[in-house]
Parts: sequence; structure tokens; C-alpha cells
Amino acid sequence: MTNEIKFPNGFLWGGAVAANQIEGAFDEDGKGLSNNDVIERIKPEDRKKLHLPFPTSEEVQEALRDQANRHFPKRYGIDFYHRYKEDIALFKDLGFKVFRLSIAWTRIFPNGTETEPNEAGLAYYDALFDELRKNGIEPVVTLSHYEMPLHLSLEYGGWTNRKVIDFFAHYAETVMNRYKDKVKYWITFNEINSILMSPFISGGILRDQVKDKNVLQATFQAAHHQLVASAKAVEACHRLVPDGQIGCMVLGMINYPNSPHPEDMLAALQDQHKTFFFTDVHVRGHYPTYMNRFFKEHNVVLETHPEDADILQQNLVDFVSLSYYMSTVSARPETAGEQAAGNILTNLKNPYLEASDWGWQIDPTGLRTLLNMFYERYEKPLFVVENGLGAFDKVEEDGRIHDEYRIDYLSRHIEAMKEAVGDGVDLMGYTAWGPIDLVSFSTSEMSKRYGFIYVDLDDDGNGTLERSKKDSFYWYQKVIETNGEEL
Ligand code: BG6
Repeated sequence: MTNEIKFPNGFLWGGAVAANQIEGAFDEDGKGLSNNDVIERIKPEDRKKLHLPFPTSEEVQEALRDQANRHFPKRYGIDFYHRYKEDIALFKDLGFKVFRLSIAWTRIFPNGTETEPNEAGLAYYDALFDELRKNGIEPVVTLSHYEMPLHLSLEYGGWTNRKVIDFFAHYAETVMNRYKDKVKYWITFNEINSILMSPFISGGILRDQVKDKNVLQATFQAAHHQLVASAKAVEACHRLVPDGQIGCMVLGMINYPNSPHPEDMLAALQDQHKTFFFTDVHVRGHYPTYMNRFFKEHNVVLETHPEDADILQQNLVDFVSLSYYMSTVSARPETAGEQAAGNILTNLKNPYLEASDWGWQIDPTGLRTLLNMFYERYEKPLFVVENGLGAFDKVEEDGRIHDEYRIDYLSRHIEAMKEAVGDGVDLMGYTAWGPIDLVSFSTSEMSKRYGFIYVDLDDDGNGTLERSKKDSFYWYQKVIETNGEEL
């Protein structure tokens, strides 16, 4: 059956990265510090633990005072800032149709509050987009991928502060105006639902700024501001970018019930709502009714402005994009079992699934199911903009890297997407996460590698930074060349 199913012509094959995980050059050409520039690497023994830093202002200030003695890997990335031409040539060799990347907000507005943008930052992305176009690769640009100006965290309380909507809208308007002829695909916030688990990295919130220790109140208030800001970016794209398309982006998570117990099913549905809430607002333009009860029961009272409802309703996204790495298991509160690892969500172990070396539970069929769930709910084009396997790679004596585990993971997920297309899902494209090795988001390690392209750099920042092709490089090249026929 699968062989008869084909990916649509013009399917957008490519790879995806984030500025803070690849660029480096954290203090060049006027760039300001972002909240990821103060994050250190985790200890190897903590790999399978959930690591979502939630520091206080004082802890951040202390990290800044002590920066000469600390290593913050995301300040250095893989030096893409200087090596992008070489890397884009490799992406061309892979056959990429699209390349998903993010703009570092702090290159354009170093503190986030300036009126005038930093011209050197704008010029850098001009050159980058030109290089992509020259190589026949269409950019897909995320406005905010797990970073914001640190200044906005320290001085404004991050996204809890309504003023940040205007700062972001000004940034979005500035870059869309500048790149409207070069960038046609835009994404607003990376994994916008992650703010519920990761208040600092996704929402710029510092622990001591949370009033009455009500973290849920603070994160939902910040989420509301991001949703309004996202709608404003949609408005700007539709007004400024000829033929532009803009989507929202969520951490694509499917929540299985731990057992057929009805209360487990209810728990799974309620966990699923934490993802759907964000896409529901972006696609339908209003808050879903199931949130009313949730807010009431959790003492969350949102401060909104009268115009918010209209802003959300009038600026609906053109597509829904998602990342997908693993699935999770939900259970009724009284049946706590053994927890599985994850970058964002804690969840129960699923006895039917294998896990990666970082404990992420591998589940290609979950991707097919989730794509069906999204498509049935919205009937909007879907775009898988992240998927991949973080794994240790071994460089052989002849320099080759035989990463058949990565090929196995990716081919099974692409196969599952193909089945979803067969189910009737309108799928625009697929950008594999980290086509070139990069600094891990959750652990800030280099040894958690995703790439088709190996980067000679270790966890302490030592290495030549030389790039080389893994076995998966040649495999993915064939996948793209055959439009997913040969997996
Ligand atoms: C996604 C993020 O959640 O997962 C990426 O959008 C991240 O930024 C990716 O890199 C993989 O996570 P990690 O922690 O393995 O880098």
C-alpha cells in the first residue's frame, strides 16, 4: 500500500536549525545577549533528567559577573555565522528545497527596546538569504526560536509584560519589511506551547519575577501575550510580504492514556489540550472553551485588553507547523509510574517503545496519528519542521561515520508521514532537525548529534570545526532526489 502513496510534487524537503544553536559570534556586529547566552552545559550524568533552567535574576547576574570562568556553548554554536557559505553549499549538495532557520532577535534589536534596528545584523541576514537563493534554497524563517533579548527578561519580566508585544511586533515588522522579497515562508514562535514547561527559555521569565509563586498564572499570561504578538506577526506578514505564508509552530506531542481506564483517557485528553490550546487559537482565532474550566481550577486570571479578541480573530495562520521527536504517556494523578526522559515534558515510560540514549521514546506511528489529529481538527496545511534523532556518533579511522541508527529513525518517520499523506493529510514539507550537528537545546552538548553533516567540535568547545559527510548524508540526498520514494 505504502508504495502507491506519493509525497505531493513540490514537497518542501530540507533541514531546520535555530540561530542560538549554530551561529556563535555572540558579541559580533552589535549583537546583544539573549537568554540562551547565559546557559551552561549539563553534566553528562544528568542527560536523562529534564533540564529546563528557570533561574532567578540574581543567578543570571552572577553568571554574567563570572562569565570569564564559565562556558556558555550557545555563544559559540558551530560558527555558522562565519561558515554559512560552506554549509549552504553542503545543503545544496543534499538537494534541499528549503532551509528553516531563525533570526536572532538580538542581532536586530540588541536589547529589544530600540527604535532603530542594528544595520549590521540586518545586513548579515540579507547576505545569508541571498546565499540561500543563489543556491536554489528557499528560506523558512522563525521569528523567535527559544531566545529573546536578555535585557527584556531582566528589566521587563520577559513575556509576562504586555509591553513586550510591541517590542516583538516592531521586530517582526522590521524584518518582514526588510526581507519581504527574499523570504516567503515565516513561522512566528518556535514550539509556542513549550512556555508551559520552560518559562525562561520560551518566555523570558525569571523565577523571582513570578508573583505569589503562581508560575501557571505567569506562564499563561506570558502565553497570552505571545499569542497576541503571534497574531500581530501574521497581520504584518499578510500586509507586507507579497505571496507570503505564515504559520504557528508547536511541539508536536501525542499523549497516550496509560491504560484503558477512563480516567487515564481523560488525563491524556487534558494533556493533549495543552498543545491544542495553542493551535486552536492560531487557527480558529479564539480561546477554546475547555480552557475556561482549566483557568478556573488553577486560579489563572488573564489580564487581556479589549482589542485582543479582534486581533486573534482577524489574523489566522496559513499553516500549522510542528516538531515531532517522541510520544508521551499520561495517567490519572494517583498512578505515578516510572518517568521517561524528554526535553520538555516528563511522562511515563511506554513499554512498547524503545528510547534514544537521552531517553526520548521513539514512535514513528505516533507521528502518523498526530498528523491525522491535527488535520481532522483544522483542515489546514501541515508542515513537519523538526524531527530527528540525537545520538552519539563515532568517527572511524578512515574518517567515515556510519550512522545507520539515524537513517533507521528518520526513514521510519518519513514512512509514517507518507502514510499520513495516504490518509488524506495535506502535508507541505519536512525539515529534518539539525542537518548539521549543532549545540543541543536542552543539554547544550555537542555530543548529542542530529546531523547528516558532522562537525568536529566537542562538549568543551574544542575541535577544528571541520565539516564532514556522514552515511546519512548520502541517504537523505537520495530521499530528496526521489521525493521520498527511496527510504
Ligand atoms: C526542539 C527544539 O524542541 O527540539 C530545538 O525546537 C531542539 O531547538 C530540538 O534542538 C532537539 O532538542 P535537543 O535538546 O536534543 O537539542
